[in-house]
Amino acid sequence: MFDQLKEQPADKILALMQAFREDPREDKIDLGVGVYKDAHGNTPIMRAVKAAEKRLWDEETTKAYTGLAGDPLFAERMRDLVLGDSVSAEQVAAVATPGGTGAVRQGFDMVRLANPDATIHVSDPTWPNHLSILKHMGLPVAPYRYFDSDTGGVDFAGMIADILKARPGDIVLLHGCCHNPTGANLSMVEWKHAIEKINEVGAIPMIDLAYQGFGDGLEADAAATRAVVEACPETIIAASCSKNFGIYRERTGILMAVSQDPSRKKVTQGTLAYLNRQNYSFPPDHGARLVLMVLGDDELRADWEAELEEVRTGMLELRRLLADELRQRSNSDRFEFLAEHRGMFSRLGCSPEMVEKLRADHGIYMVGDSRMNIAGLNRDTVPKLAQAIVDVGI
Ligand code: LMR
Repeated sequence: MFDQLKEQPADKILALMQAFREDPREDKIDLGVGVYKDAHGNTPIMRAVKAAEKRLWDEETTKAYTGLAGDPLFAERMRDLVLGDSVSAEQVAAVATPGGTGAVRQGFDMVRLANPDATIHVSDPTWPNHLSILKHMGLPVAPYRYFDSDTGGVDFAGMIADILKARPGDIVLLHGCCHNPTGANLSMVEWKHAIEKINEVGAIPMIDLAYQGFGDGLEADAAATRAVVEACPETIIAASCSKNFGIYRERTGILMAVSQDPSRKKVTQGTLAYLNRQNYSFPPDHGARLVLMVLGDDELRADWEAELEEVRTGMLELRRLLADELRQRSNSDRFEFLAEHRGMFSRLGCSPEMVEKLRADHGIYMVGDSRMNIAGLNRDTVPKLAQAIVDVGI
């Protein structure tokens, strides 16, 4: 039977990670996979997470199963973090998942169960793994226009025109903040307009929120998601703790299904727990427990928020520096969009050939679509990147 298996296409982001590791050049720069790095290139464990881990080691008395939905306290605290008081607890069904990707997958699984004919409308471009998972699951996909490579911003008119093609019951997948891979985001005015149109066609928004706290701040980054749940009859939310708690390998995420009609909660909650049981039974607990401890303890929470804020403002400074260096070196302000973008990523908007030249000639690794991880830079490498961008003629 195994001889029937075909080689699967390599995940581009993960293949790049491997290629970077194998490159012997000492001055190489990794702007590939979306992992935060400090100025020394390390991905530290956040202080509050480390403190929670120590406390957990002391206090935890059992490793017995939690529940199919994970610890309800994790769901409660994550609901507050993401949704604040935009909803009541009775409106939200939620399960812990293995990372944000697990939440995305479970969300699609729920859609398939409820409405196998639904088309999933995704931004063009979107995180490549969205497309890969949807293809694997056999769900129909339709791209909506999103990135305007001339301005580095959002093609909002194109986006709305394409969303209007959705049918009732279709899903519109949105990035709640810090769009991956482009870094270009909607303004709140645009969000409100998009929400109106989604409601007008009777589609259901699904929000991937993987970078809360990396854009304009914890609250600001949740504002669009909160506006969506307040205005739409139903919303699916896949949120990740990988980046904002820096617990990538612990696989910690949550899937929330929000309905304006609280009578839906019991069946929806049961369905999400059922899907967990079918796919992996109990979700991982360690990372979720650290998160619920940090969020539930005033001191740990304050320290976590302060460190996250350092991370966020550090990335903003790097954006500003890079845009300034590029203005000087290229004698134009056409790279100003890099300072406007938010989150870990920016799409430079150049050809795959130029991306390859950056790798081959300068040891600079970014994803083939010219997505770069801003957190992979530091004050010393920004000028080097700027010069390389100018040298290859972008
Ligand atoms: C990324 O986009 O680089 C991250 O979300 C990591 C991943 O799993 O692809």
